[in-house]
Amino acid sequence: MSQRVAILISGSGSNMVALAQSMTGDHPGRPCLVLSNDPQAGGLAKAQAMGIPTAVVDHRPFKGDRAGFEAALLKVLAEAQPDLVALAGFMRVLTGDFVRHYEGRMLNIHPSLLPKYKGLHTHSRAIAAGDTEAGCTVHEVTAELDDGPILGQARVPILPADTPNSLAARILPLEHQLYPLVLRRVLEGGRSPITLP
Ligand code: GAR
Repeated sequence: MSQRVAILISGSGSNMVALAQSMTGDHPGRPCLVLSNDPQAGGLAKAQAMGIPTAVVDHRPFKGDRAGFEAALLKVLAEAQPDLVALAGFMRVLTGDFVRHYEGRMLNIHPSLLPKYKGLHTHSRAIAAGDTEAGCTVHEVTAELDDGPILGQARVPILPADTPNSLAARILPLEHQLYPLVLRRVLEGGRSPITLP
């Protein structure tokens, strides 16, 4: 039987689309839910167009009540009974309490070569530091932000003329290659890191 994959998004959902499109044929997974914390997230319509159930848990009514927000997320997720949770541009920090529910079964993609540049503004920080390369990382989610075992990385050179936007535009297509490769490997029981290109 296929393993159920829930995908959490906050924005345009291009990584979600790459993951969902990869889960066909003999793939061991199938998308069971796309869940957003933002009702305006562009990825919701894309998921609906692909026939994937969607849900929204808006974080804003939970201002100052992270536990309440996470409880609401957990309730919706539990109904979808995912075997694996994939964070794909999900821009809310999740606490250790939440992560424990899906320990070892939650992945994230982050737009830097972790352990460098956890958090936000990764590309501008890499350029400002004078780094010669940048990239993206898929990792297992643990209680620490953007930490946890690395399951895959893709790297690109930083060019002299690069801006944060130009770098992001070069890295995003690699995210779309890397994340499906890692998802499939993890669902097949593998944890050894994948390196691109
Ligand atoms: C991606 O670049 C992803 O790596 C990043 O947000 C973007 C989402 O784009 N994630 C983070 O910054 C997580 N901290 P998408 O919605 O088109 O997939």
